[in-house]
Amino acid sequence: MKYISVAIDGPSGAGKSTLARQAAKQLGYLYVDTGAIYRTVALSAVRAGIDPADAPRLIPTLEKLDIRLDYGADGLQHMYLNGEDVSQAIREHAISQHASTVSAIPQVRAFLLDLQRELARNNNVIMDGRDIGTVVLPEAQVKLFLTAAPEARARRRHLELCQRGQDTPFETVLQDIIRRDEQDTNRAIAPLRQAEDAVLVDTTHLDLEQSLHAIVSAIEEKIK
Ligand code: DC
Repeated sequence: MKYISVAIDGPSGAGKSTLARQAAKQLGYLYVDTGAIYRTVALSAVRAGIDPADAPRLIPTLEKLDIRLDYGADGLQHMYLNGEDVSQAIREHAISQHASTVSAIPQVRAFLLDLQRELARNNNVIMDGRDIGTVVLPEAQVKLFLTAAPEARARRRHLELCQRGQDTPFETVLQDIIRRDEQDTNRAIAPLRQAEDAVLVDTTHLDLEQSLHAIVSAIEEKIK
């Protein structure tokens, strides 16, 4: 492999995206948020009036789907759907559950595989998701599994939503996290699980700075 790939997997709200983005910045790698890609597929279904669970209706729309990923002048990953920047729209609370639903459809996963692998073929990447170390980049030089207790994850997600002005009760956020864990872990295809050769990082009792340190150290340890 010409480039270095770092795979970071774990459940929702473990801090993967914040930590992976910051670690990538420190190391000068490209950060790839694969959840954003599933979210864009979910948004596309919703906008087309298709129930995200309706696989027979959703699958035929995939080949006409115009999804692009680009990095703006701000260095951040932007998602485009039919040319429109949907980076904000895909963060709506309802889209999280829909993304989890579409991600359980094998044809959706197969459709997105090349897009993800292509990025790793041409860049040093830190890619986060659910199946990066197990399916998308099984040859990644570094694999991390980032997790935290559900309550800790719900607290962080709740704070994030409040800061964005999306006032959702804490209990709802917690129940949604538990439901998504359940759905992402128990699906038949590419379920969320720790790769055998992944390093486990539990951030339940770590703050952001401590978590970032744990991750960057684990990466440097592997690639030195
Ligand atoms: O990381 P996120 O919360 O933005 O991801 C949204 C959903 O997409 C998540 O519930 C499961 C799915 N997903 C996946 O199945 N595989 C990935 N590599 C990334 C996300």
